[in-house]
Amino acid sequence: MSRFWSDHVADLVPYVPGEQPKVIDLLKLNTNENPYGPSPLAIKAMKAMLDDRLRLYPDPEALALRTEIAACYRVDVAQVFVGNGSDEVLAHIFHGLFLREGRQVLMPDITYSFYPTYCRLYHVPFETVPLAEDFSLRISDYTDERARRAAGIIFANPNAPTGMALTLDEISQIAGANPDTVVVVDEAYVDFGAQSAVSLLDQHDNLLVVHTFSKSRSLAGMRVGYAMGSVELIEGLRRVKDSFNSYPLDMLAQAGALAAIKDTAYFDQTRKAIIQSREQLCLDLQGMGFDVLPSAANFVFARHRVADATKLAAALREKHILVRHFGLPRIDQYLRITVGTDRDCRRLCVALADILGNVQ
Ligand SMILES: Cc1ncc(COP(=O)(O)O)c(C=O)c1O
Repeated sequence: MSRFWSDHVADLVPYVPGEQPKVIDLLKLNTNENPYGPSPLAIKAMKAMLDDRLRLYPDPEALALRTEIAACYRVDVAQVFVGNGSDEVLAHIFHGLFLREGRQVLMPDITYSFYPTYCRLYHVPFETVPLAEDFSLRISDYTDERARRAAGIIFANPNAPTGMALTLDEISQIAGANPDTVVVVDEAYVDFGAQSAVSLLDQHDNLLVVHTFSKSRSLAGMRVGYAMGSVELIEGLRRVKDSFNSYPLDMLAQAGALAAIKDTAYFDQTRKAIIQSREQLCLDLQGMGFDVLPSAANFVFARHRVADATKLAAALREKHILVRHFGLPRIDQYLRITVGTDRDCRRLCVALADILGNVQ
C-alpha cells in the first residue's frame, strides 16, 4: 500500500499474464500464441506504413478495418467495435455494459481469469457458476431467474483453459432466455474448431461476440481485438472508448489487421495446420498417460494420471519448454499446453517421455 494510491488500488488483484522470458531455444507453449507468423501480406502492409504519415494520429474510428471485418462476417459496419486487443474490448464491456445498479454478472468458475479482474477494477458485482464435473457448461444454470436478473453473462467459447465448446443452439438458448441481459461470447479461439455466434446476432440484440487477431491471425504483438453485436451495444462501447482513449489502434495495427483479415488463404492454411497438430498431440499425450479434454482451441488441457502437474511444469521448464499451470481449485492437476508446429509438439512429447520415464 502506498500513500499515493487511490483507495481501491490496494484491493486490486491484477491479472498475471503468461511469462515471456528471453531464453535462447525456448519453446513457448504457455500463452496460446500462434506458432506461424502473421500473414506475409500483413507484414508487407505494416512495412508500407512506416513513413511520414506516422506523425499524424491514426483514424480514431478504424473505418477501413471495421468495414473489412463487417464484410467478412456479413454484418453492418455500425455493428463492429475495435480495440487494443480483445482485453481492452472486454474491459470496456465490463465498464460500459455490465455495471448496472443492483445487478450482477454471471460467469463460469473456470474461465478466462481476466473477467473477475475487470469486475474488481470496475466494481462490478459478479457470481461464478461452477461448471459440471466434466467441465461442461450447464445451459440450465444460465436460463433461470438469476440469469434473467443479471446485467451480464460472459463465457469463452471455446472455453479457456478447458478448450471445450458449446453449440450454436446452446448459445442461442442462453441469449434467448435472457432478453434484458447482455450475453457476451468471447470467441478468442473459435477459429480452431467451434462455430461463431455471429450468425445469431440477427436474432438476439443482447448478444455480443468478441474476437481477437492474437490467435488465429497471429498478431498478438499488434494488439487488435473486436466485438460484434447490435448497433445499440456497439454504440455503448464507443461511448466508453471515446471517454478513455480515442485512438486505441495505431496505424500499423490497423494496416496489419486489415491485410491479415483479407488474407483468407493464409488464415485457412495455418489454422488447419494447427488443428491437425492438435489432433496428433492429443493422441500422443493420451499415449503417455494423460487425460486430455476435448479441445476446439489452439491448446489442450491435460492431466497426467500419475505425475503431479506442478512438477511436470517445472521439469519441462528445465528443458526450456513453457506450459501454463494454474494452481487453482479443480484444475491444479492440469496443464494447458499451446499447440505449436508439429516439430514443437514432437519436442514437447520427447521431453515429456523423458521426464515421465524418470518419475516412473
Ligand atoms: C479467452 C481469452 N479472451 C481474450 C484474450 C485476450 O486476447 P487479446 O487481448 O490478445 O486480444 C485471451 C488471451 O489469451 C483469452 O484467452
